[in-house]
Amino acid sequence: MNAFFSSLLLILSLNGVVQAAESPVGDPVAGQAKTAVCGACHGPDGNSLVPIFPKLAGQGERYLLKQMHDIKDGKRVVMEMTGLLNPLTDQDLADIAAYYAGQKGSVGAADPNLVAGGEALFRGGKLDQGIPACTGCHSPNGAGLAAAGFPHVGGQHADYIKKQLTAFREGERTNDGDTLVMRTIAAKLSNSDIDALAAYIQGLH
Ligand code: HEC
Ligand code: HEC
Repeated sequence: MNAFFSSLLLILSLNGVVQAAESPVGDPVAGQAKTAVCGACHGPDGNSLVPIFPKLAGQGERYLLKQMHDIKDGKRVVMEMTGLLNPLTDQDLADIAAYYAGQKGSVGAADPNLVAGGEALFRGGKLDQGIPACTGCHSPNGAGLAAAGFPHVGGQHADYIKKQLTAFREGERTNDGDTLVMRTIAAKLSNSDIDALAAYIQGLH
């Protein structure tokens, strides 16, 4: 990891400590009861079967909570979820995040034709092009770093990953903070880089 990314990591983690102190503590049992409507798309236990609907099972609690707040506040646009989070309180969102974080995430299969290229990029980046290794923040097994809000990506649907990386690259998803961390990285990825990464990530665990 280069100096830029290690200092970024530190800033993001410190930021995490401050925000976590202000949030209500989630209750996973109460959370499950609040996810009936979510299950239609994300699966009853958060393991969605539809490749364009993200799996939430086993995702980091802090990341889940941030995304729900961003979607509710319109900082991240999810058409399919329009209005859905409006009746939910901060406590409800914390409970839901705690529930999904405690579920076991399923893993898919990686496309064998793309996996080698995806693995090389995920683990080593392309330093001559300024692309850092994804492992620096999302960890070698794709589990992320829950305390810092770095999402768990391992086992996630390739179609969903592809859509997110493209959205960060095109500036359609802009909720990665003032550091533009994912927009900066995705700007350097080609379509074939994205296809390879998405395929590798789907089978990663
Ligand atoms: C009609 C389908 C649908 C329903 C119902 C739905 N979602 Fe979603 N949700 C989506 C889609 C589609 C996305 C991803 C959008 C995109 O591609 O950016 C998403 C994204 C998310 C994310 C971000 C995941 C990530 O990895 O960044 C969270 C968290 C989430 N939904 C929580 C919920 C919760 C909680 C509920 C129930 C209160 C819910 N959703 C109901 C379709 C749905
Ligand atoms: C310096 C840390 C860092 C590095 C390096 C990094 N990421 Fe990220 N990534 C993040 C953070 C932080 C987020 C969450 C942004 C937010 O809160 O919306 C994220 C989000 C994502 C998401 C969206 C996950 C979801 O569920 O919607 C994907 C996909 C992703 N990164 C893939 C990658 C890939 C592939 C690489 C390597 C090419 C990479 N990241 C490198 C920090 C990093």
